[in-house]
Parts: sequence; structure tokens; C-alpha cells
Amino acid sequence: MDENTGLITSKLMENSKKYFIETYGCEMNKSDSVDIALSFEEQGYKRASGGDDADIVILNTCAVRKNAEERIFGRLGYYRSLRKTSEKNTVIVVAGCMAQEKGTEITRLFPEIGVVTGTYHCLDIPQCVEKYEKKGKSLIAVDRKDYTFSSYKGERAEGYKAWVSIIKGCSNYCSYCIVPYLRGPEASKKSDDILQEVKDLVSNGVVEVNLLGQNVNAYGKDNDEISFIRLLEKINGIEGLKWIRFLTSHPKDFNEEMIKRISDLPKVCKHFHLPVQSGSDRILSLMNRKYTIRHYRTLIEAIRKYIPCASITTDIIAGFPTESDGDFEKTLNIVRSFQYDDAFTYRYSERPFTKAADIREKVHPDTSKKRLEELIALQRNISYEKNRKAIGTRKKVLVERKSKKDTSEFLCKTETNKMVVVKTEAPIGGFIDVVINDISGNTLRGIEAQ
Ligand code: SAH
Ligand code: SF4
Ligand code: F3S
Repeated sequence: MDENTGLITSKLMENSKKYFIETYGCEMNKSDSVDIALSFEEQGYKRASGGDDADIVILNTCAVRKNAEERIFGRLGYYRSLRKTSEKNTVIVVAGCMAQEKGTEITRLFPEIGVVTGTYHCLDIPQCVEKYEKKGKSLIAVDRKDYTFSSYKGERAEGYKAWVSIIKGCSNYCSYCIVPYLRGPEASKKSDDILQEVKDLVSNGVVEVNLLGQNVNAYGKDNDEISFIRLLEKINGIEGLKWIRFLTSHPKDFNEEMIKRISDLPKVCKHFHLPVQSGSDRILSLMNRKYTIRHYRTLIEAIRKYIPCASITTDIIAGFPTESDGDFEKTLNIVRSFQYDDAFTYRYSERPFTKAADIREKVHPDTSKKRLEELIALQRNISYEKNRKAIGTRKKVLVERKSKKDTSEFLCKTETNKMVVVKTEAPIGGFIDVVINDISGNTLRGIEAQ
């Protein structure tokens, strides 16, 4: 869950009501929550300090795995009882992916919910709330329409950084994944609009942009726009911008030539998130990933060749239907071989609508649990060794936020996307040089270099 997004924008209307957003799921949802917050502020609503203090609570939800949904149901239970006990008649809004998936089922289970808005209605929530308040009857907006990107630009700045959605939806239909059914087909934003947005963000103090898409490498293919790499080259030329990050690259649409061109762009951070999902070609084919480990290996080799200091992270699913001990051993082997800096590892979760849900031969939950634990332990050791080797090295970092544990310390990020805890007087959004002198868990600690 992410903290409420509060943005300062021109108040077009006066409104004494307060909103609060809880965000679940991927960076895309965080980016959508920025638009949702702006749409409320445009109508004069104020940001509440927490859900208990709000007149309208928006849960921007995720449905990618079952446990994500269970957590959200838990929160809905909490807000239901809050509504019963408090004087406030808090309006509860369920927005985003789970809303798109479940629609009316949500209000059947929780009749107290006022508004359910799917992924195509992220910009209309204040109007839906208003209609609901007038009629007093739950409102459900999960119909699909042509995708509209928000027209907010520089206002989307969140201090020193901003998320910029460059391509929405997904047309890949990996057989385990529900996202294409909830977010629709790929739709790229016009490159001129993206460039203007980044320029406006920079004028508003942003030094780092995160370009977002389920598969950023597919940028421009649906609407004859420039390619993703060309877009990166143009953004790299924007004066005042310091760092560019992007998420996520699908290995099937990536190649050595693209990596070589990226290596010439000084503002692009040296971090690649390249989800492999499995080390077995048989499982990759069943997953409909459309690449082999051989192709994937060429990408790792090209990154190491052209950008030797780059960090590489991945996503892996353990226990995909039919995965044998032999298939899983292949996954462990590629993890050993590719030496990822970090891996996001998941147990396979069966999702509605997906092809993999129809595969009869499932992996026993105890087996997938054991495999996941083995994978986590292996990667933990690799990450630890990599971090240990970083001790004594000097790194440039961006100061991101105050540490919650010790307010004299700040959490800073390296270009390679590693967190470093440092005591510093530098402002948030500033760059400093640090020398790594310790590690605690998976976090690096450093001292400011003179
Ligand atoms: N578009 C991104 C990933 C989005 S979802 C990409 O293709 O790389 C983030 C991760 O969740 C996926 O990479 C996958 O590892 C995991 N995931 C998706 N569906 C899942 C499921 N049904 N069960 C378990 N993990 C899943
Ligand atoms: Fe899901 Fe695959 Fe699309 Fe990623 S690329 S969102 S895993 S279907
Ligand atoms: Fe979840 Fe939707 Fe993102 S299902 S991972 S919030 S696209």
C-alpha cells in the first residue's frame, strides 16, 4: 500500500470535503493515483491525512494475484465497520483492476460501497461520487471505452520525481496473467505529449522520471509512433532532467542493438528490470512468453558487455502448472548463472479468464511453497554477496526521503536502483556522493563523501 498522494494544483472550486487514496499493485497504479488525486483537487477537494479522516476513501486496487485481492477485501471490511461506527458517512470507492475484474460482485459482497470504477474510469471518479451522493444508490462504472490519457502534465510532479505512463494496457496475454483482460490492449501516448509532460515536470522541479508500461519496449507499435529507444533518446535531450528510469521491458521485444543504444544515453539509469519468469523453455512456452532462455541470455550478455556496472533485476513465478522438479532446477540454475541483483519471486496464483487456469495438472501448493522458499534463499545469498562487494565503493545517489527509524538519516537511491541509508544535510531531491561502508539486511549504508 502506498501513501496518499497529495498534490498542489489550482483550485477551481471550493469544496470542504476530503479524499484519501490507498494504492495497491504496480507502479502503473501509483501513476493512476496521481491522476485520481489531481481530479479530486481540481474539484476543490482537500487531501485527508488518513482514511479515518476522509469523506471519500478510494482504494485503487490490484488483482494480479489472489493474495493482493484478499488484502483489499480486508481493507474493505475495515472501512465498512468504520462507516458503521463513525458519524461520517464516508463514501467508499473501489477503483482500478479489481474493480474492473469483479464489478457488481463487489457491491453484492459489500453493499456499503458507494462507487466501483474500473480501469477506464480513473479520471471520472469525482463525478461518479457526486452522482452517487445525489442518488444514494451504488454506482458501477466498469464499461470499456477508448483509452484517454490524462491531460495533466507538470502538476503530476511529486517533489523531485514523477511517473509518466507512456503505454497503457497489454497485448501479450502471458497465460498466467489477468492484466490484459483488465487493462485492455496496448495504447501508446503520443510522443509529443510525453515530451511536453517531461519538460513541464522538469520546470516544476522534477529531476527523475519513471517511464511506465507493462511492456515499454512495445511503445509506438500500436500507433505508428517513434520507437521506445528513440523516445528515450529524445527524453535524454531534455535540459534539466537528470535521471530516467523505465519499467518494464519484455525480453521478447528487447535486443542487443537497443541495449547498445541505451548505453550511449547518460541520463538513463543503469538498471534493467527484465522479468524471466522461468528458467525452463518448456514452461516459458506454456506461459506464452515468446522467448527462450537462449535469447534471454543474449540480453544479459549484452547488458554486461555495454553497461558493465548495470544492475539487473527480475520476476520469477514458482509452481506454474505442470512445472516439474527438473523445470524448477533450471530456474535455480539461471538464477545462479545470471547473478541478479534482486528478484521479485511469486507463487503461481490462478487467475480468472487466463489460459493457465485451464491447465489441469497443477503443482501442489506445498511444493510451490517449498520452491518459492528455495528461490528466495538462493537469491538472498546472491544479493547479499553483491552488496558485500559494494562496500568501499563510491556512488552518486539521489536523496529520496527521511528514514522512519532515525530521522537524521535519509534513504537515497543509486543509479542502479539500490537503497543507501546515509546521514546528510542535503535536501530531498539533491544528489550526493557516498562511500558504502556497511550493509544491513538488503540495504546498503554509506557515509557522505567529502
Ligand atoms: N508487465 C510486467 C509484469 C506485470 S505483473 C511484465 O510482463 O514483466 C508483475 C509480475 O507479477 C509478473 O512479472 C509475474 O512475475 C507476476 N505475476 C503475474 N501474474 C501472476 C500470477 N497469476 N501468479 C503469480 N505471479 C504472477
Ligand atoms: Fe501480464 Fe505478460 Fe502483459 Fe506482463 S507482459 S502484464 S506478465 S500479460
Ligand atoms: Fe495489479 Fe493492475 Fe498493476 S492487476 S499489477 S495493479 S496492472
